[in-house]
Amino acid sequence: MQRQNGSDPRAAFFDARAAHWEANCYPPPVREKLPPLVASFHLPSGATVLDMGTGPGTLVPYLQDAIGPSGRVFPFDLSLEMLRQARMKLGPTAPPPVRATAMRLPFRDASFDAVVCFAAFPHFEDKGLALSEMARVAKSGAQVIIAHLLSRAELLAHHGTHGAVARDALPEEGRMRDLFLLAGLPDPVIIDAPGRYLAKCRKLASPSESRP
Ligand SMILES: C[S@@+](CC[C@H](N)C(=O)[O-])C[C@H]1O[C@@H](n2cnc3c(N)ncnc32)[C@H](O)[C@@H]1O
Repeated sequence: MQRQNGSDPRAAFFDARAAHWEANCYPPPVREKLPPLVASFHLPSGATVLDMGTGPGTLVPYLQDAIGPSGRVFPFDLSLEMLRQARMKLGPTAPPPVRATAMRLPFRDASFDAVVCFAAFPHFEDKGLALSEMARVAKSGAQVIIAHLLSRAELLAHHGTHGAVARDALPEEGRMRDLFLLAGLPDPVIIDAPGRYLAKCRKLASPSESRP
């Protein structure tokens, strides 16, 4: 895991931006879009939720509000500096954010009621592997959700101005459907519109689970 994290140039890119990430990327007009975004996920009360590429824990308070006090949000990220920010923000009673790569999740199969990947999927080097991992750790019936506050084209234009992530992009719709299918998540809902990208699918019960 250490070697994998260390070899990804994005870790240094995000480390360098961690201290001012939320101030720069989530000014009030952007931040006010987060509660309705999370509400649109329809997370069940009491759910256990994985927050993929949490950064400084931007989405954690909104996820926690949505699932209520009996729910738990588990954040992880590749960048140590992002995790440092997340730890300061989330406090001692929250599950500690852990360092990990999306391509090798340190969680058991079928651990989560929802897997949320907000504003991070384009940065995963092997998107097929990351999505397979997301599916693996999701329980049967759990939603696997990829979300952004920009469309695919808007995001590409935005990343284009930033060195190490300039080529990081969401896959085209057909490719994204293939990646979901290969991960065992057939027929995802994909919405790609100005100011919004959503790709989500509910994990089906495996045939052995559905047998009486
Ligand atoms: C654009 S930032 C978004 C962070 C946060 N979700 C937010 O909206 O503020 C993308 C995050 O993904 C993380 N990341 C990039 N590649 C990763 C990987 N392979 N595994 C885990 N996290 C990764 C980065 O360190 C960064 O914190």
